[in-house]
Amino acid sequence: MTVVGFLIITPIAYSEMAYQKQISFLILQLLFLTLVLASANGNSLKLGFYLKTCPKAEAIVETVTADHISLAPSLAAPLLRMHFHDSEKSGPPNLSLRGFQVIDAAKTALEKACPGVVSCADILALVARDAIYQIKVVPLGRRDGRVSIALESLTLPAPFGNITELKAQFASKGLSVKDLVVLSGGHTVGTSHCSTIAIRLYNFTGKGDTDPSLDPKYVPYLKSKCKPTDTTTLLEMDPGSFRTFDEAYYTNVLKRRGLFQSDAALLADKETSAYVKLQAQSGGSTFFKDFEESMVKMGQIGVLTGSAGEIRKHCALVN
Ligand SMILES: *[C@@H]1O[C@H](CO)[C@@H](O)[C@H](O)[C@H]1NC(C)=O
Ligand SMILES: *[C@@H]1O[C@H](CO)[C@@H](O)[C@H](O)[C@H]1NC(C)=O
Ligand SMILES: *[C@@H]1O[C@H](CO)[C@@H](O)[C@H](O)[C@H]1NC(C)=O
Repeated sequence: MTVVGFLIITPIAYSEMAYQKQISFLILQLLFLTLVLASANGNSLKLGFYLKTCPKAEAIVETVTADHISLAPSLAAPLLRMHFHDSEKSGPPNLSLRGFQVIDAAKTALEKACPGVVSCADILALVARDAIYQIKVVPLGRRDGRVSIALESLTLPAPFGNITELKAQFASKGLSVKDLVVLSGGHTVGTSHCSTIAIRLYNFTGKGDTDPSLDPKYVPYLKSKCKPTDTTTLLEMDPGSFRTFDEAYYTNVLKRRGLFQSDAALLADKETSAYVKLQAQSGGSTFFKDFEESMVKMGQIGVLTGSAGEIRKHCALVN
């Protein structure tokens, strides 16, 4: 089963049934979010935050994102990553991060429509949503931080972490073990350079060995794609369906074919491995719902609201 990811914007085949399933899930999700947000206080994020101040904000971002993604579907992964970085209070991402042109284009269009109103942090959240999911519900009202830090090297989550480190990294942001295994599912889309796994393939413990947690039958294929010093070749993170937002990532991880150590690490913990198995064996029964929940949760970490922070004029620079 496939779907969601680029429902409208790329030529990926999807079945009518899966589409229906997605729609009913969205309605449930909308109800869920409405309940959550109705009980939140006035200073937190809201759905429809820009309804009065910039009514076309969400439509503008959606159009800009769709235009870019239709030309380069693999942009979805870095866009999701940017939202994650921003949620780590790092401020809008370094200009050199792939995908920044989408943020920049959206910001330019929004400044034209309603100058000084829509924060870059909210643009990142909207673009991530539009890129990964065609969902209509992301609570808004973030303001932009007054510091900007380059966080190029981080991914979602850090590719070299073992399970203890990953759990600690997530816990420090108020994210659960479930969020960890769910958000790791973001690796269902996108690519990574050979250099990220060179150590796993060629010198895992410094003795010219290979990471034993990799499926030995898969290693020759990876080695044929990636020579030891290759820094340019791109590997699919979810081979066979790397442009599709689906549960195939978990199937690969279960077969010990996850690309990163952090993927393999998910099998080293009872709770995360149970989740991997569940999604792999149930056709991703709850993955979309879980991903959306974790993404919304992640998007609420460390946000500035009310009169804190600022609304940036340019997303790469503090005012
Ligand atoms: C962005 O990252 C590049 C390369 O990592 C670095 O050289 C540059 O100084 C960074 N720019 C900013 C504004 O942080
Ligand atoms: C995880 O990595 C840390 C730091 O490198 C190390 O101290 C720890 O023993 C590792 N834990 C496991 C379970 O491998
Ligand atoms: C493998 O790692 C060891 C220890 O870090 C290092 O001394 C050695 O040069 C590495 N080998 C290669 C081929 O990079």
